[in-house]
Amino acid sequence: MQVRLASTAGFCFGVEKAVNSVIEALESSQETIYLLGSVIHNDQMIEHLKAKGARCIDSVEEAVGPASIVIRAHGDTPEVYDAINAKYLTCIDATCPYVKRIHNLVKTKANEGYRIFIAGDANHPEVIGINGWASNNADIFMTAYDTQTMTGGDEKCCIVAQTTITRENWDEIVKVLESKFSNLEKFDTICNATAQRLNEASCIAQESDMVIVVGGRDSSNTQKLYEACSSHCDRTYLIETAAELDRIKPIKHIKIGITAGASTPKWLIEEVIEKVKFLNTDENEIDFKEAFESSLTQLHPGDVVKGKIISFNGNEFFVDVGYKCDGIIPLNEYTDDPFFKSEDAPGEGEEIEVYVVKVNDGEGNVLLSKKKVEAVNSINELEDAFEDKRTIPVRAHEVTNGGLLAYYKGARVFIPASQLGLKYIRDLSDFIGNELNVRIIEFNMQKRRIIGSQRILLEENRDKSATNLWSTIEPGMKITGTVKSFADFGAFIDLGGVDGLIHLSELSWSKIKHPSELLKIGDKVEVSILDFDREKKRISLKYKKDSDNPWIDAAAKFKVGDIVKGIVTRLVPFGAFIEIDKGIDGLVHISQITGKRISKPEEILHIGDEVIAKVIEMNIESRKINLSIREADVKKEDADNLPTGINSGSETQ
Ligand code: F3S
Repeated sequence: MQVRLASTAGFCFGVEKAVNSVIEALESSQETIYLLGSVIHNDQMIEHLKAKGARCIDSVEEAVGPASIVIRAHGDTPEVYDAINAKYLTCIDATCPYVKRIHNLVKTKANEGYRIFIAGDANHPEVIGINGWASNNADIFMTAYDTQTMTGGDEKCCIVAQTTITRENWDEIVKVLESKFSNLEKFDTICNATAQRLNEASCIAQESDMVIVVGGRDSSNTQKLYEACSSHCDRTYLIETAAELDRIKPIKHIKIGITAGASTPKWLIEEVIEKVKFLNTDENEIDFKEAFESSLTQLHPGDVVKGKIISFNGNEFFVDVGYKCDGIIPLNEYTDDPFFKSEDAPGEGEEIEVYVVKVNDGEGNVLLSKKKVEAVNSINELEDAFEDKRTIPVRAHEVTNGGLLAYYKGARVFIPASQLGLKYIRDLSDFIGNELNVRIIEFNMQKRRIIGSQRILLEENRDKSATNLWSTIEPGMKITGTVKSFADFGAFIDLGGVDGLIHLSELSWSKIKHPSELLKIGDKVEVSILDFDREKKRISLKYKKDSDNPWIDAAAKFKVGDIVKGIVTRLVPFGAFIEIDKGIDGLVHISQITGKRISKPEEILHIGDEVIAKVIEMNIESRKINLSIREADVKKEDADNLPTGINSGSETQ
């Protein structure tokens, strides 16, 4: 005979927690301990607790104080808590944390105006309790069929599940509701302990000749276990106690599977195992005790194990680590990444490596951490990057005292303000959220210091560009640079690690007084190399384009004898410069200003004056045009119609 005991047989952690609370109260309190309703669905366990002094009541009114009342693992309605308080009784709240979470969820959503749906059995105490936290206004569906008559809409609504319903049933109910309600939020609150127990029982039943399900006949999860096993193995028996094994005949050489409901105490299962020996007609004795102990998965703090994601509620991940109860990774133990979004969370069934922080976090859950697994890996990577002087990407998160806090795969890297740019950057807030490439310049785990520098990379790039530029530079070469600063005599251009100067006269063909008339700091400009000195590290640049040279067209535009209109731009002792076209100045010698004798041009002309002049001499190659105001004999009405810089033709003379 072979016997296989399900590792999930017996108390789930919620029931175990509730039973332990009762036993602890019975052993430590002088008060009467009342059990309100069935604390667990197992008569034998109830009798056991009664024998220790517990008293069962169906309503708070029956309790006589001073006394304590135990709220069962299924939880209860807020009215029950109020009634306990009103009678000044002590409340021992043994509600399973999984159920408590549903109460809180439903209460919050109901307060936010959501319509509440519950997938579950309306008559089950757990569902009655959940509905109480929704002010008894929830719509409850046992099956998808129950949703058929619902009229849909776009109101805000959410659905939660009774912890013990099957996932198939949940999926069907949700599917119908989703097709009717456009704003439905789903909270899969099915307890994985139940699903695991059912799955394991089904697997065992498929491989067994006989299955014994131990549990209360009024326990819904025991009933479901029995149904699941029966569908795979005809010889499935549901028994409440070992005594019921008497009706089963001894059989040789068979495989027997044993499982038990969530409310079945361990001692009852052990009694059944002992009794199964009498079914054994084989000669070899079986160590059933060992079979029981070894069927349980062992976990220890510090273990790194693989698990599968069950669900994520926005704050916690529930993970199946093959233990008798679920593991929980609080979000702050999942990642330090402040940019983490729910959409990035791993999906249901995805495998994940986790670190066991505590086997029992006080609420019966296994406390897990993904960060602790990753932190070790990320820190190792950062140390390697430090040693190899490798560039790594980090994401800037917040401005702290003196610098930026950034993250590399959840590991913190500090970047001092002085290590961010080539120049000191006062306002670091623009970096927040950006990915930066840095080099780790200090790695000291004892002091918990990991320091990154972006500046060092910028400096290297700058030096590399400078070397490259000096090796390729030649007169006439075109290059793009960035306007870095201005001086009265020109603009300095950053050519990538080397600065060059555009003198004012090389900025424009027109006369300008300051480079800011043409450029802005930070502008990208294309310049050409005029001259350079490698030793003195000086480069002269030209910004104005040859193609824009106004003298190119001057020969076609002007000829000797033309009458032109212009503006006085400069006065010198020997005459006045007149701009007759954009970038083209002609000279009126002092002797050509007027027929009268004058000692200086200012006696007749002023800067900005508009004048009419005659072209008397031209030398395009040496960029010289001589003008005469004295010889420009234009009638007043003709002069008014003469546009600046456009010659009137010699026939107007
Ligand atoms: Fe709690 Fe799940 Fe048990 S909800 S009571 S751990 S079956």
